[in-house]
Amino acid sequence: MNPFAAPARRGAWRPDRWGRLVCRAAWDETHDVRSFLLQPEDGSRITHEPGQYLTVRTEGAGVERSYTITSSAAGDRAIIITVKRKPGGVMSGHLHDTLHPGDVVEGFGPAGRFGPATAPAECYLLLSAGSGITPMMAIVRTAADLGIDLDAVFLHAARTEEDLIGAAELAALARRLPRLRVLMVPSRPVNGWAGEKGRLDADALARLVPDCADRTVLCCGPEGFMAAMRVATAALGVPSTGYFEESFDFGVTEGEMAGDSTLPARRITFARSGRSFDCPQGTTILAAAKAAGIAMPSSCARGECGTCKSLKVSGTVTMSATTALRQREIDRGFILPCSSRPETDVVLDR
Ligand code: FES
Repeated sequence: MNPFAAPARRGAWRPDRWGRLVCRAAWDETHDVRSFLLQPEDGSRITHEPGQYLTVRTEGAGVERSYTITSSAAGDRAIIITVKRKPGGVMSGHLHDTLHPGDVVEGFGPAGRFGPATAPAECYLLLSAGSGITPMMAIVRTAADLGIDLDAVFLHAARTEEDLIGAAELAALARRLPRLRVLMVPSRPVNGWAGEKGRLDADALARLVPDCADRTVLCCGPEGFMAAMRVATAALGVPSTGYFEESFDFGVTEGEMAGDSTLPARRITFARSGRSFDCPQGTTILAAAKAAGIAMPSSCARGECGTCKSLKVSGTVTMSATTALRQREIDRGFILPCSSRPETDVVLDR
């Protein structure tokens, strides 16, 4: 089949179940960031909103991780995920070292509620640090491809200019998007950087984006960066309703998930697979499932990504985080097992 030919009518990729994706290309973005072009193996259409992510698993890594989709949302034949190699990162190291064109990974999603599709506004401040730039790239690429007249300041902090992802491409995109202003700010430039440099703090923010209070802020980066920007933007007059953030700095350990295992156990049953296991009352259902050797899709383990979302058939749980659920999903009985501790025996539609 001619790969350039327009595809025949195709079905839609299912974002609520694991599916197979073929890696069609892989390339370096920087010395420690690599992108992978993934295409549904069955040729289905895969759509996403800019700012969403895909949860990935492979047999070799034995874990699941979420990565931002960095490709434009204008197309539906493939997506690109961009992965920073983390020190000791099982999945990121595995993808960097072993995922080559022709290989297959499993994907769950796209999912997530960060981005202009869920936070529509007249104008934005896209505020990122490190690999937090990835959802912003998807937003800008989508705007350019769809001819959206995006009014945005793109303010990105990195350690050195060698860590800046997509700097040359952003300059080119800014020519297509006349109301896009791109500001790259390395904190420790090494090669005679002529532009803005130094630490991105409240003073720098006020100076670089004087109309910050009039913009809806989409912020993504390490937890410490977002905490500082949350305070800084609030001090500059951005209301909490105009500030949105996203993090993949998922630091929750299995131990933290496990809770107090001395409390009485409740029985958790997966109705469709027929599997069941005990879950101490103070333990999350996800942690208990993992302890029992039962695989459940998960990524953040703190109620933010939605990967573990499950329909509760019966029973009562206490849910400590519901960020990833819409109210109508909660009303229909969906729970997040990573943040749910059972009060009674529970049956899930799994
Ligand atoms: S694993 Fe992210 S919401 Fe449960």
